[in-house]
Amino acid sequence: MAGKELLKIEHLKKQYDENVVLKDISITVKQGEVVVIVGPSGCGKSTFLRCLNGLETIQGGTITYEGESVEVKSKNITKIRQKIGMVFQSYELFPHKTILENVMLSPILVQKREKNEVRKEALELLERVGLADKKDSYPRQLSGGQKQRVAIVRALCMHPEVMLFDEVTAALDPEMVREVLDVLLSLAKQGRTMLIVTHEMSFAKAIADRIVFLDKGLIVEEASPAEFFENPKTERAKQFLSTFTFDKVEKSRSVDDVKAVEAYV
Ligand SMILES: Nc1ncnc2c1ncn2[C@@H]1O[C@H](COP(=O)(O)OP(=O)(O)OP(=O)(O)O)[C@@H](O)[C@H]1O
Ligand SMILES: [Mg+2]
Repeated sequence: MAGKELLKIEHLKKQYDENVVLKDISITVKQGEVVVIVGPSGCGKSTFLRCLNGLETIQGGTITYEGESVEVKSKNITKIRQKIGMVFQSYELFPHKTILENVMLSPILVQKREKNEVRKEALELLERVGLADKKDSYPRQLSGGQKQRVAIVRALCMHPEVMLFDEVTAALDPEMVREVLDVLLSLAKQGRTMLIVTHEMSFAKAIADRIVFLDKGLIVEEASPAEFFENPKTERAKQFLSTFTFDKVEKSRSVDDVKAVEAYV
């Protein structure tokens, strides 16, 4: 299914002062691929995604999108950034704008697109995630899961070619997790190219074409979900996965959360 190479990362190195967060990362993402990045807290997952969107200066290696450099100082960075949409854990909608206005803002202001055309598309996208009836509401009137779906629609309305998702369900109540993950699953079914950082292992297994396990600034394993979850090759991956076994999950998480995760098994 995967097509041409879109993102190519070679020997990426990223550090904050003395702290080398990404040591030497090389990976290629093809059109239509869904790559899920997992790894322990602090291993550099968010930093990695931010580098891919040209939000961070890098200290070594290269990142290219269809052959063009994706770096803060790159000449075409504004244009390239629009091809790479990003959705974060905190959705940060504008509180004084309606849902529809939030979605329409960037396509009109940044991309200078025609207002009626943008409105039509925004309404269609809201409809697709089940939020057409919220178009005139304000963010404070929506649940966390609804707001996160709006944030996804807002990113989609910019027509990105690749989408980066950084723990988009981490701030949500357990009962809201599924509705957001379902939107991501439907995007995957449409053949969208996506890089997803998540701690929802069952979801990762369900959606990924490829799992990338990051630890201490390096890719420790890169494998199909079946391989990674059923037959991890390294001790570090085994150890990481063991923290998600049911016993431990039950102790550290609410029962609802466990149910939401289990629904993907
Ligand atoms: N803006 C920053 N300035 C300095 N250090 C940073 C900055 N952002 C991240 N770091 C450091 O980089 C390392 C990786 O952080 P990052 O947020 O990428 O981890 P993560 O894998 O996303 O973790 P989590 O699963 O908890 O979200 C951490 O040691 C963190 O303290
Ligand atoms: Mg993070």
